[in-house]
Amino acid sequence: MKQGKTETVKVAIRVRPMNALEKKNNSVNVVEVDRSNNQINLIKPENNQTNTFQYDYVYPYTINQRTVYDETAFPIVEAVIEGYNGTIFAYGQTGCGKTFTMMGDFANPEYRGIIPNAFEHIFGYINSEENKKKFLVRCSFLEIYNEDVRDLLGKDTSKKLDIREDPKTGIFVKDLNIIQMRNTKDLENELNKGFNNRHVGETTMNKESSRSHCIFTVYIESSEPSDNSKEQKIKAGKLNLVDLAGSERQSKTGVTGERLEEAKKINLSLTVI
Ligand SMILES: Nc1ncnc2c1ncn2[C@@H]1O[C@H](COP(=O)(O)OP(=O)(O)OP(=O)(O)O)[C@@H](O)[C@H]1O
Ligand SMILES: [Mg+2]
Repeated sequence: MKQGKTETVKVAIRVRPMNALEKKNNSVNVVEVDRSNNQINLIKPENNQTNTFQYDYVYPYTINQRTVYDETAFPIVEAVIEGYNGTIFAYGQTGCGKTFTMMGDFANPEYRGIIPNAFEHIFGYINSEENKKKFLVRCSFLEIYNEDVRDLLGKDTSKKLDIREDPKTGIFVKDLNIIQMRNTKDLENELNKGFNNRHVGETTMNKESSRSHCIFTVYIESSEPSDNSKEQKIKAGKLNLVDLAGSERQSKTGVTGERLEEAKKINLSLTVI
């Protein structure tokens, strides 16, 4: 995240509600969220011994999607519109709420996650500024599954793409589709199309577990006349929205066979992205 003149990374912790299995087992809640001090307290039920951890933002399971967006994502999206690059990624164990936080439920405004809220934010800004500036918005959507990169918006989503390095522009994915978007609906359509192409499977913690890392990127370019010349002032920013596959301990989540092979590679590819 770029804020003012200093570049910073911020960490937010979001606690999920207990899942069906935990409720069935009458599991005890050991996590206390202290919003006023941005602290998480882990309490040992045997002796009430408490370990405290400090973060930039902390959220209890009762928090709504909009608050998470406004506090964590809003400033990053504003910076991207201003021509900086920003990345928001969700990391954690399988079933902890990464896809819920990044995507949520599109159809229900109350449950919309960071990605749909970012679309609304971007096009809301563009509509309010379109008399003064010209904008070009494009997007790409890829997944990393079993170490292979695939284009979720490509004609053939089974085709493996190569990662290359350009001395001037840096690392890029060769032949990745980058598609122009005119409005929020266009972005939603591409996101849904790609999301349906993503690899999912079942783990003991999550019926619809994401088995791949996926990166949805929004490229925003704007031009406006500069103050004292006929030249145009150009800004270009890139927003990476990343929903990682669960980083799980195999023994805890009971994975075997294909799920185990995926899990080994999921963790391996985390070391290179
Ligand atoms: N804060 C929350 N409030 C309500 N439901 C939640 C919350 N977090 C997660 N869930 C629910 O828990 C289930 C698992 O969440 P989700 O699929 O987002 O996990 P994940 O971290 O993406 O897991 P995986 O790594 O396996 O893909 C879903 O049914 C989701 O709707
Ligand atoms: Mg997921």
